[in-house]
Amino acid sequence: MENLKIDISKVSGFVSDKAIDDYEQLANESLKALYKKSGKGSDFLGWVELPDTITDEFLSDVEATAASLKAKADYVVVVGIGGSYLGARAVIDALNNSFDWLQTKRENPVILYAGQNIGEDYTSELLNFLSDKSFAVVVISKSGTTTEPAIAFRLLKELVEEKFGKNGAKDRIVAITDASRGALRTLADQEGYKTYVIPDDVGGRYSVLTPVGLLPIAVAGFDIRQLVKGAVDMKGLTSPEVPFKENPASLYAATRNELYKNGKAIEIMVNYQPKLHFVTEWWKQLYGESEGKDNKGIFPAGVDFSTDLHSMGQWIQEGVRNIFETVLTIKTANETLKVPSDCANLDGLNFLAGKRIDEVNKMAELGTLIAHLDGGVPNIKIELPQLNEYYLGQMIYFYEIACGISGYILGVNPFDQPGVEAYKKNMFALLEKPGFEAETKAMRQRIK
Ligand code: PA5
Repeated sequence: MENLKIDISKVSGFVSDKAIDDYEQLANESLKALYKKSGKGSDFLGWVELPDTITDEFLSDVEATAASLKAKADYVVVVGIGGSYLGARAVIDALNNSFDWLQTKRENPVILYAGQNIGEDYTSELLNFLSDKSFAVVVISKSGTTTEPAIAFRLLKELVEEKFGKNGAKDRIVAITDASRGALRTLADQEGYKTYVIPDDVGGRYSVLTPVGLLPIAVAGFDIRQLVKGAVDMKGLTSPEVPFKENPASLYAATRNELYKNGKAIEIMVNYQPKLHFVTEWWKQLYGESEGKDNKGIFPAGVDFSTDLHSMGQWIQEGVRNIFETVLTIKTANETLKVPSDCANLDGLNFLAGKRIDEVNKMAELGTLIAHLDGGVPNIKIELPQLNEYYLGQMIYFYEIACGISGYILGVNPFDQPGVEAYKKNMFALLEKPGFEAETKAMRQRIK
């Protein structure tokens, strides 16, 4: 059986094989520290063993809740920000038919998102759209106090109650939050919503295999058992027993750290499938929030090729040489579509007639790889055999465990995010939140 594969051969010429091999001890120690919970941020390592602890009973419960929401609602709004929505969105967008949301007859509800921005236009357009629809809400916040989802949920709760009454709201709102702390927990208990718990020792960006990701993914109609199975198998393939050179996560962590040491401060995640756009967004958060601290860390960027070859391609080919690319590629497309022949052949493309679109895409990928290598851009390739729940499960666990190893190699705590607080403090001061009087005064001086 095939598994996720990593190819680091296209970094040689930029960094030596020996330099990567020299990470063996550090990578092994880092991986062991994740399992033994002996490194930085050890209170937030519940996700390491998580795939093995997911029970059949728990999955059945999530599936039953998903079925009950599906039976009632044509639209389900996932309210959350950062790790509380990106994992679900990454999987749902990757697996969904790209035009499903435009169909009038559908098997599963359309998943909409709120609370990941404070755009007044976005939020009021969403509320207007939902005003004559049958909808439900899954509100997700580990802390239960994050401003963006809290504002969006206030508005959505009001609309649900107005349309379906207080009792109807109980059947249409599910809250996923801390077991005992936070405003969302208090509210959910008061209102009698169905709730799921985000384990204390699993941080937001590592929570996709908890109800945070699993419930929205199940509501969208996807097989969460296969997703979990993929993660379980990847856990086996990346465990401390696997030798460094055979461990894709250790190799990825070591290679990107060595590139970083050699001046490659930006990693560009590349895909050749528009469906993977939000996988890149999820990866950006996972690595950006985990590693960007103590004035260190690779800047995670993303492009969708070949679309962005016509916008960012020039920069990548000839701009500052402080970048490397990690291509997330899918070995074979799920659909089959061939380039048709055309008698007039005005566009001169008959030489492609009969070839699969995926073959053309793969040649765009290979041609770009060679061009970018020639232009001084090292390349790591991560290949999934197919785009389905199982391999996305493998991919999620692979990126998570590699992120933990990579953060430890870099010497940071990959499981906190102290820098996220700075903007919140200023925003509350500017909005004159009670208790922030001194900060409000200081802010006024700053903006005078
Ligand atoms: O990874 C993280 O911890 C963050 O991105 C959080 O997921 C995000 O800030 C949302 O937090 P919360 O779930 O507490 O609302």
